[in-house]
Formats: sequence, structure tokens, C-alpha cells
Amino acid sequence: MQNFTTPIPLSLYIHLPWCVRKCPYCDFNSHQAPDSLPEELYINALIKDFEEHLPTIWGRRLISIFFGGGTPSLFSAKGIERILVEINSRFRFGADIEITLEANPGTLDESRFIGFREAGINRLSLGIQSLQDEKLTALGRIHDRDYALRAIEIAKRAGFDNFNLDLMHGLPNQSLDDALADLDDALSWQPPHLSWYQLTIEPNTFFHHQPPTLPPDETLWDIQEQGKLLLAKHGLTQYEVSAYSQPNQQCTHNVNYWEFGDYLGIGAGAHSKVTDMNQQHITRHWQVKNPRDYLDPTKKFIAETKIISTNDIVLEFMMNALRLTQGVPLSVFSERTGLPVTALEPMLTTAKQKGLLVDNADILCATELGQRFLNDAIGMFLC
Ligand SMILES: C[S@@+](CC[C@H](N)C(=O)[O-])C[C@H]1O[C@@H](n2cnc3c(N)ncnc32)[C@H](O)[C@@H]1O
Ligand code: SF4
Repeated sequence: MQNFTTPIPLSLYIHLPWCVRKCPYCDFNSHQAPDSLPEELYINALIKDFEEHLPTIWGRRLISIFFGGGTPSLFSAKGIERILVEINSRFRFGADIEITLEANPGTLDESRFIGFREAGINRLSLGIQSLQDEKLTALGRIHDRDYALRAIEIAKRAGFDNFNLDLMHGLPNQSLDDALADLDDALSWQPPHLSWYQLTIEPNTFFHHQPPTLPPDETLWDIQEQGKLLLAKHGLTQYEVSAYSQPNQQCTHNVNYWEFGDYLGIGAGAHSKVTDMNQQHITRHWQVKNPRDYLDPTKKFIAETKIISTNDIVLEFMMNALRLTQGVPLSVFSERTGLPVTALEPMLTTAKQKGLLVDNADILCATELGQRFLNDAIGMFLC
């Protein structure tokens, strides 16, 4: 039933699961680091994990690599360099490959930044979150405003022209003025890219058990609307729910997720989505989540593998594509899912009739209403 004819872009995600300490809002697969980080053992495991996946991606090229976490900047520059060298000795990198590393300002010094740049990292993503000390304390961050600013400064000095700032809004007791002042402050550094996330209270986090006082809905709405205007005024265009960039500075790695490209995930708890052109299907794998299990040589890296059903593929494609402000060309649907565009019917027509999707035969894109009620727009494609 599926028919893949065009090569699918491929990214690599590398999960480094340790942090100095766990933030109270965070539900990522991140763990407080032991006194001595088992860096070498973990890198050995990553390389073995990558080798085991090689047969599924053989002959392709990587368009991006993303070191995510956790706090990848806890690893030494030498360690990051070794990972990149080992991967590159086994697999081809695209000519203009984007290589991002997530960094926590509380873990950085100038020599480490320079080391990352020399190791081949060409995009840095700094977890700033806020530039107000009171908010950083409420978020349980390990750094203050001065440290965050210093991190931006030394990233620039170390030659990272391409960098992202992660900022959150809707923070405990945050007013509209607080949120706009934070954005304004961050924008004065002219970031090529800014990820602006609304704080969500996730199950299994400290905040879920002891909820902080969040701003009322009207304030959250005003923050969103006025924040977007401020970002646009500084030349940062929204291209995804939480992602804003200067022209041509979108994150290749994340865009590949949203356009339903392939990605291999290595490291504890990493996910993969790989298209098998021979078998004509898409497979998902999940690696074991606990770093201790991941490092245990008697255990397998893969916790679960499953072939995605065609119904799930339609929904997953739409869940990703509709996050993109400009949507995706309709042709990308068939290219990436292997399904005919008729697989979207009758849901597509109904979604257009309800005003949730743009009425254009060549593009899949949420309207303003659809963006506002994104879950409803996506829900239309539940089979
Ligand atoms: C995987 S985290 C890693 C970044 C890095 N470890 C750090 O915190 O500096 C990526 C980003 O997700 C955002 N984030 C994490 N938990 C969130 C939550 N509950 N609500 C909204 N954004 C969140 C933060 O902005 C964070 O920088
Ligand atoms: S530093 Fe980042 S990954 Fe680690 S606990 Fe905090 S938000 Fe999560």
C-alpha cells in the first residue's frame, strides 16, 4: 500500500541524559549526574548503538546532528569531538550539515565553548529560560542572569554565529511586563533563532505535585500576542508553534522532524523513525530509558520497535506538519508517508470546511483559527 520513491532526509539525535540537578518543571529523560560522569563508557555505548543501526540507514547522508538532553554541555569537548569523529568514520555527513549542542549556561566556561566549536559543533542552543533572577530561582535553574548573559557573550566570542536561545514564558507569577522585558533583553543579543516555550506543567514533575501560581489565561494570551509582535519587530519570524528565526536560520534538525523526515536516535531513551525503502514501511524504535540499563552490556539498547500503521502515519504526519506556520506542500505528504494524497480524505475536506486548514489544493497548512485550536485541527485526522 505504501510506495516510497524519493530519498527521505535523515538526521541523527544523540541523547546525553545527565544534568547538574533536575529542574522542577522538566519531564525530559534527564537525571542528576553522579559525582563522576561515566563519559567514556557512555560514548562507547553510543558508538555501539550507532553501529547496530547502520544497516537500517546504509548509503544515506546526515543532514543534521543534535546533541540533546539532559545537559550535553556537561560532557567534555574532547568527548563530543570523539563522538563526532567516530560517527563520521562510519557514516557520511552532508556538505552543509548542521550540528547543534544544547548547553546550560551554568555548565560553561570559555575554553569549553571554544572546544565545542573546534570539535565541529556549528550551532549552540543555550537554555536561558529567563533573564530575571527571581524567575530563574522559581524555575530551580542552576544559573542566574549574569551567568546567562556571560554564556551568550562567550558563545558569540567563540565563533558561534548560529545560536539559539531557549526562553520560557507563562512563568510563576509572571506579568505581561515581566515576559516582554525578558524577551526584549534576550532580543538585544540579536539571536539568529529563539525558541519561546510556554511553561507547561507536566505529570511526574515536582511542579505537578506542588503547582506554582501561574499567570491567568488572559495574561497568557496577552503575553503570546504581544510577544509575537515584539519578536517580529526584531526580525524574528515565527515558523513553528514555539520557534522564531531570522531569515534562513530555521533549525534544520527540527524542521526535518516537522516535515516528517527520518531520524535516528541514539542514547538512553532516544527515539528513531526510519523509512525502509526495501520493505516500503516506516519503523519506530525506542532505546531503553534508564542510563544504567543503557550502560549495562548484558542489556539491549532497543526497548521497543514497531512498524507504524497507515492510520497512525496520517495522524503523525499532520501532528508535525501543522505545527509549521507555513505548513508543507501537499507533495511532501506522499513523499514522506508513501501514501497517496487520497489517504487524507475525507478528513482534509472537512477540516477545510471548518476553517481549520487553508483552502489551497497544493498546501497543508493550518489557518489562524487552526493554529489557535491546533489540537482540534490535528484531531480531524484521527482515523
Ligand atoms: C531538553 S530541554 C534541554 C535544555 C537544557 N538542558 C537546559 O535546560 O538548559 C529543552 C528546552 O525545553 C524547554 N522546556 C523544558 N521543559 C519545559 C516545560 N515543562 N514547559 C515548557 N518548556 C520546557 C526549555 O526551554 C528547555 O531549554
Ligand atoms: S537542565 Fe534542562 S534537561 Fe536538565 S532538568 Fe533542567 S530543563 Fe531538564
